[in-house]
Amino acid sequence: MLKLKVKTSTKYQITIGSGLEGFNQSVDKYIKGDKVAIIMDTNVSKLYKNLLEEKLSAKKVFTYIVPAGENSKSKEQYFNLLEKLCSDGFTRHDTIIAFGGGVVGDLSGFVASTYMRGIALIQVPTTILSAVDSSVGGKTAINLENGKNLVGAFYQPRAVYVNTEFLKTLPDKEIKSGFGEIIKYALLSKKVTLDLVKNGISEKLIYECLKIKRDIVSKDEKESSLRALLNLGHTVGHAIESLSKYQISHGECVVKGLIYTLKISQKVFNLTQSQIDQINKIINCYNHDTSCEYSAEQIMNKVCFDKKGDGKAVKFVLLKDVGNPKIVSLTHQQIKECIE
Ligand SMILES: NC(=O)c1ccc[n+]([C@@H]2O[C@H](COP(=O)([O-])OP(=O)(O)OC[C@H]3O[C@@H](n4cnc5c(N)ncnc54)[C@H](O)[C@@H]3O)[C@@H](O)[C@H]2O)c1
Ligand SMILES: [Zn+2]
Repeated sequence: MLKLKVKTSTKYQITIGSGLEGFNQSVDKYIKGDKVAIIMDTNVSKLYKNLLEEKLSAKKVFTYIVPAGENSKSKEQYFNLLEKLCSDGFTRHDTIIAFGGGVVGDLSGFVASTYMRGIALIQVPTTILSAVDSSVGGKTAINLENGKNLVGAFYQPRAVYVNTEFLKTLPDKEIKSGFGEIIKYALLSKKVTLDLVKNGISEKLIYECLKIKRDIVSKDEKESSLRALLNLGHTVGHAIESLSKYQISHGECVVKGLIYTLKISQKVFNLTQSQIDQINKIINCYNHDTSCEYSAEQIMNKVCFDKKGDGKAVKFVLLKDVGNPKIVSLTHQQIKECIE
């Protein structure tokens, strides 16, 4: 079992384990109050509802199930959950466990942040993406008709408990997508080595990825500067995700975005051939499909006219080398020259 301490506005511990023997002790000690609401989606509940209710039998356990998929990050599901907590008599002194992927984590986190102005939240991520990324750092959100994550709060969990056992039931598509995010970490820091990534999911791999996230969010909890480094590959990645109407998985889009990141970094920093080869080797280590069916113009349109931009320049995370990312502001003309 590996442990990491996170120091943000509140302090909390991440526990990374494998095998479910110690599960109840590891999670029970963070539960506040008599009542626990476990929030999970329909897919996860089929696999783990009974096991969880049995393991946490010491408390009054309520299980709330939402439909699997991004659509559950909605105002309807958000209010449903609040109403359920209220009718089941939850007070500010009880606990919510978000048991699932990033969708359940974001939705439950937002519920926790607002129910009676804040109720204890334990994140138990069950996808690779949520294990190495979304369960840590305190970003919670739901979507509006007009876009993703437009309503939310920074709300840190009381604890994060990752167990590699839960990741064993993931479909291949989710594993591949999760590794897209892991490749991002392997480019951000040399600690996530190619050997570690190639060995597949392990406590150590999750630990090294989360350590990077921990270090960054501890220095910049609310994304005023440094936290943007975690967007490596995401500027173009999000553009491709949106162009594909979310048909290509997030991690796969991040990998395609990393190819563009390399193209731009190459021009901006004059990378040497050996640096380019090393970066390429990492991007391609999981055999993701790195082709892109969208034109430079389509990508430019998405990247440059994103609602968050100022209309003139775009902030990109580029690579000076493996383990040496830099945030650079590029004009539209510069981006055009690099990606065409
Ligand atoms: N808060 C943050 O910092 C942050 C960061 C990145 C992404 N996100 C958000 O995360 C969401 C995506 O998360 P995701 O990729 O985990 O998607 P997800 O939660 O939809 O999970 C993906 C699929 O895997 C299934 N699943 C989950 N755990 C399983 C298991 N153990 N075995 C079998 N199937 C399982 C789910 O039912 C779902 O069908 C997006 O909404 C994104 O905006 C948030
Ligand atoms: Zn991502």
